[in-house]
Amino acid sequence: MKKQLTKQEITRLVDAAQTARENSYSPYSKFKVGAAVLTSDDTIFCGTNIENSSYGLTVCAERNAIFAAVGAGHRRFKALALVTQKVPGEKFCSPCGACRQVMSEFFPPQTPIYMAVLDKGQRIVYTKLLKEIMPFPFDKFTEK
Ligand code: THU
Repeated sequence: MKKQLTKQEITRLVDAAQTARENSYSPYSKFKVGAAVLTSDDTIFCGTNIENSSYGLTVCAERNAIFAAVGAGHRRFKALALVTQKVPGEKFCSPCGACRQVMSEFFPPQTPIYMAVLDKGQRIVYTKLLKEIMPFPFDKFTEK
């Protein structure tokens, strides 16, 4: 059985994602997202969504966080957190398909994904495992 993150570790990771969200460059959607990944040696890397006038060039917070860590030499991860605002009718905001595929490249299937929602001064954190949100990744060529 894999070791679970402690409450303190989860709070530290979600706090980092929330802080990263403040740097969101999202003038088009006005939807700010912050993400943070925890590496196997307990280093945190953050990312936020960065949009572009040519909309399709936008890069999500999750991929920016993962790529920052991978670019710094990390290959093994314990968890990812993301923070968004509350969307009416939605309990939480889950990562897009492209980000799930990128997570599948580096994260074991049982990696926890913490999805935090900011709502009226409150922060509620929902947890899913990567294998629950990405059951059939394309991994034919992935190094295992
Ligand atoms: N976005 C993310 O950063 N992560 C997600 O998981 C979903 C969407 C960003 C992309 C875009 O800047 C904005 O949210 C609205 O789609």
